Amino acid sequence: MAQTIDKQAVADSFSKAASHYDQFAQLQRDIGEQLLSQVNASSANTVVDLGCGTGYFSEKLDVQFPHSELTCFDLSPAMLNQTRQRELKNVHFQQGDIDQLPFDENSVDLIYSNLVIQWSDDFCECLKQIKNSLKVGAKAYLSTLLIGTLDELTQAWKSVDDNPHTNRFLSLTDIENCLKQSGFSKTQLKKETRTLAYKNVLEVMRALKGIGANHVHDHQATKLTGKRLVKQLEMGYLPFKNEQGLLNLTYQVCYIEITK
Ligand SMILES: C[S@@+](CC[C@H](N)C(=O)[O-])C[C@H]1O[C@@H](n2cnc3c(N)ncnc32)[C@H](O)[C@@H]1O
Repeated sequence: MAQTIDKQAVADSFSKAASHYDQFAQLQRDIGEQLLSQVNASSANTVVDLGCGTGYFSEKLDVQFPHSELTCFDLSPAMLNQTRQRELKNVHFQQGDIDQLPFDENSVDLIYSNLVIQWSDDFCECLKQIKNSLKVGAKAYLSTLLIGTLDELTQAWKSVDDNPHTNRFLSLTDIENCLKQSGFSKTQLKKETRTLAYKNVLEVMRALKGIGANHVHDHQATKLTGKRLVKQLEMGYLPFKNEQGLLNLTYQVCYIEITK
């Protein structure tokens, strides 16, 4: 289940998107709101927004927990700079990797992480580190994407070649197995399907690039380029046109609530 991810390339993609991320991130905001609505802690001394991006949810956490010390943590320096511009109170900024969490053992009261852990190269290990960072009885709220996400695009690319052009996502069973191994005292999982629709293939690509989620692990160049590539992809996408003639793009979302 573990894979080797080029973290520098991931950070670069997100950094390139940082200044316009919020314009493209409606789906990410909707999922993040849903995750935030699950947070039921009334107080917390130390809160971490793991993979904070532009700080949209850091700002909400800062309001919800006005007496907490909030750490905004992200791999991308440009994303952290966007968060800095929000002028939050009692905030630390920390650049780092979810696969090498720097927090002291038993030091964090609440972890919130919206659509980040799918970028971990070892989800089971990442969960262990999250557990290690949390105080006993403290909670983490995580959202991630499951296998089946971007499936239409994955299938459309198969009409071009057999190389990977979208990233692989874990199954619900993979996630359940990691949760069992990591020994949290309580776990709650919820799964949801969200489908977006776009006018054409270029819009699909622009949307992924707009949020910086366009780095594909083990990506190889295609033989086709330019208009011929777009035409071939449009052909491959034909089975996934909806009744309005738009191209569907599915996200399989998983919400995880865990207590140490
Ligand atoms: C889809 S965005 C979500 C941002 C934010 N949580 C939100 O909901 O708006 C994913 C974020 O995860 C960060 N990220 C990706 N890989 C990471 C890693 N290995 N460690 C820490 N952050 C990472 C990216 O830089 C980006 O800001």
